[in-house]
Amino acid sequence: MTRSYTLIAPAKINLYLGIVGSRADGFHELVMVLQSIGLADTVTVQEIRGQDIQITCDQPDVPVDETNLAWKAADLMRRNFPEAAAKHGGVAIAIQKRIPMGAGLAGGSADCAAVLVGIDLLWNLGLTQSELQDLAAMLGSDIPFCVSGGTAIATGRGEVLDPLPDLDNIYVVLAKYRDLPVSTPWAYKTFRANFGHTYPESPEALDGRKRAMQSGEMMQAIAHKDAKAIGRLLYNDLEKVVLPEYPQVQALRDRFAEIGCLGTMMSGSGSTVFALAESQEAAETICSKMRSMVPDEDLELWVTQFNQSGVRLAAT
Ligand code: C5P
Repeated sequence: MTRSYTLIAPAKINLYLGIVGSRADGFHELVMVLQSIGLADTVTVQEIRGQDIQITCDQPDVPVDETNLAWKAADLMRRNFPEAAAKHGGVAIAIQKRIPMGAGLAGGSADCAAVLVGIDLLWNLGLTQSELQDLAAMLGSDIPFCVSGGTAIATGRGEVLDPLPDLDNIYVVLAKYRDLPVSTPWAYKTFRANFGHTYPESPEALDGRKRAMQSGEMMQAIAHKDAKAIGRLLYNDLEKVVLPEYPQVQALRDRFAEIGCLGTMMSGSGSTVFALAESQEAAETICSKMRSMVPDEDLELWVTQFNQSGVRLAAT
């Protein structure tokens, strides 16, 4: 019988995204607070004959070739573990897509993390979480977080993680226009073009700015599990470049603020805007008010909640 594992791959939102400055590798030094949410893709990995990596997806817009991060994850595993790859053969990856793309919700990264975890199980490699995260970091900055999930502070490129206390009972409304993706490289490049002159020049100054962000009020609010303060302290530097360029995203943020919520912010490089609420009922009310204020069929809305885990096995 062919062996397979089915995994849940949760999306993330950024409760905080501070750009500290430039790094020698061309990336940005960041301080982020990342939070897993209930909205998730489902990824099944299955052993197949031969040595191929095959991807299928229930959403036709998702590339099923070598450009998909899920494919790159399987390829990285076979290159790192050639004996296991030879013994177990190829891998078929089936993705049930629920997380929108180009949304700032790390959908592609979540699928990629699920493939790493799934192949570790398929090939009985017994990798530790930290070994999986080292592999994940080779594929993208937020993939290590997608492996472990929960609530974490991320520094470096986004791959250096420190867990924060779990936040329970915070609900999220997500709003995104269906055909409005934002390119992450574009957002960072534009931020550098506009604000590069403010980046600290010396390593000491960079470190000082990073430490100030890391010990800021948001981190205190999370330590105290203070939902109201978390809502008030949401922060994302990339809003400074994405909102002026995408007035529709700005408008969603304005509507959430008018409706009233614990706080509203764009996630990652957008284009998703989220609003936080203290109960499922409050989140449902925000969602239906948004639907009636913006009766556009292209606007997609979700009600979900903070989630304490990253990739996990689906219940059978
Ligand atoms: O690592 P990842 O592939 O997710 O990054 C996508 C792009 O976002 C990078 O190519 C880079 O342009 C930008 N980025 C950055 N600094 C980071 C993370 C991402 O400039 N720390």
